[in-house]
Amino acid sequence: MPKLTWHGHACFVLEHGGKRIIFDPFLTGNPKADVAAAQLPPLDGILLTHGHADHLGDAVPLAKRFQATVVAPYELALYCQDQGAPHVHPMHIGGAHDFPFGRVKLVVAIHGGQVEAEGGERFTTFPCGFLVTMGGKTVYHAGDTALTMDMQLLEGRVDVMLVPIGDNFTMGIEDAARAVAFVKPKVAIPMHWGTFPDIETDPETFQQAVGKEATVVVLQPGNTYDF
Ligand code: NI
Ligand code: MN
Repeated sequence: MPKLTWHGHACFVLEHGGKRIIFDPFLTGNPKADVAAAQLPPLDGILLTHGHADHLGDAVPLAKRFQATVVAPYELALYCQDQGAPHVHPMHIGGAHDFPFGRVKLVVAIHGGQVEAEGGERFTTFPCGFLVTMGGKTVYHAGDTALTMDMQLLEGRVDVMLVPIGDNFTMGIEDAARAVAFVKPKVAIPMHWGTFPDIETDPETFQQAVGKEATVVVLQPGNTYDF
């Protein structure tokens, strides 16, 4: 049974069958993170939606420490390699690959993606969302994104959708609820809310807006969801 743990913002750990991956490991400097990067258990994969600091986060030090594979859009994967990540696997939108931990497909996200670090200027990346299939279940981590018609292509293919609701940088509640209606996942879990003043919002209002389209599971940092 796959297990998801939210560590605040867009950071989730997904584990199944003795394999463990992390999405967007922004822990250092994240006021809502429930763990420090140093406390994480061993990781097999580190999936990055884009280069903004609140997503790239602790990726490179974690990749070095665990010899974990960084999976990211091509340009961002090369940036991580430049920074010393020992194993990177560049991909791009529309492509899928089978990893020892599961299948990963990159899908469209409408956003920016510049790496905000010294030497990162030439790595302005195309952002992505991820479809990850582990243990026969598919998780859609939407990344930072606007509502887009492309989400309709995912209808019927997603068990659990991780959806940004914080507004300002991504979809707000109204558009996030429309995104859920497009994708029709069994379960939607809100993310990218409450970390900073600009993205304060009420996940219960999102739950009401989604209505019967999906089951909304509101997690707090440190909470786990089994499915
Ligand atoms: Ni961003
Ligand atoms: Mn963000």
